[in-house]
Amino acid sequence: MTIRIRDAVEADVEGVAKAHVQGWRESYKDFLSPEALAGLSVEERVQLWRRALAEPEPRAMLLVAEADDGEIVGFIRGGPIRGKESELLGTEAEIYAIYLLDRVKRQGIGRRLMQGVFDHLAVHGFRSVGLWVLKDNLPARCFYETLGGRAGAEQSFDLRGQMVTEIAYRFELALQD
Ligand SMILES: CC(C)(COP(=O)(O)OP(=O)(O)OC[C@H]1O[C@@H](n2cnc3c(N)ncnc32)[C@H](O)[C@@H]1OP(=O)(O)O)[C@@H](O)C(=O)NCCC(=O)NCCS
Repeated sequence: MTIRIRDAVEADVEGVAKAHVQGWRESYKDFLSPEALAGLSVEERVQLWRRALAEPEPRAMLLVAEADDGEIVGFIRGGPIRGKESELLGTEAEIYAIYLLDRVKRQGIGRRLMQGVFDHLAVHGFRSVGLWVLKDNLPARCFYETLGGRAGAEQSFDLRGQMVTEIAYRFELALQD
């Protein structure tokens, strides 16, 4: 199977929303309660991603990983820091979300998605990028550490009725000519 990485377009909203919900259900079943996972709604995510794509923010980027048959099997979104929580990262830019379906993990797609957003952010003058990840999510933490991320602050909050702890990761971006 060939996976193509490309910029998202408006018609991808539903595919991204489905991958978002399936990605959570597959990847978070060991960390989050069945109730929290059952409560996820594709329709809710469609609204969220429609708003995100309509945002007039050229420095933000949504990339999708598309399989041969057109299915969206993963995505990443990153851009400038937004909101109070993000400020705690202490970076100029942020990865808002990255998700792959189980069947396409460990094929280098996550690395390609991260590099795509890193390059885009560097071109826009950002020097550092951060993200929050569940502290128990060791596979993702190993991935970020392999890519050069450094662990930092922690924060706990109520996620759909369950207390969870997240840990911050920070990446330095290469200077662009
Ligand atoms: C985390 C995630 C994006 C990684 O993407 P991926 O395409 O599977 O990772 P890659 O194949 O690009 O891996 C690159 C390197 O990272 C490391 N890595 C990736 N997954 C790993 C894992 N599960 N355990 C240990 N190391 C891992 C390895 O060093 C790997 O290189 P290798 O395969 O040559 O050994 C993907 O697994 C995912 O979407 N997970 C579920 C959602 C999630 O947790 N998102 C993070 C939310 S903050």
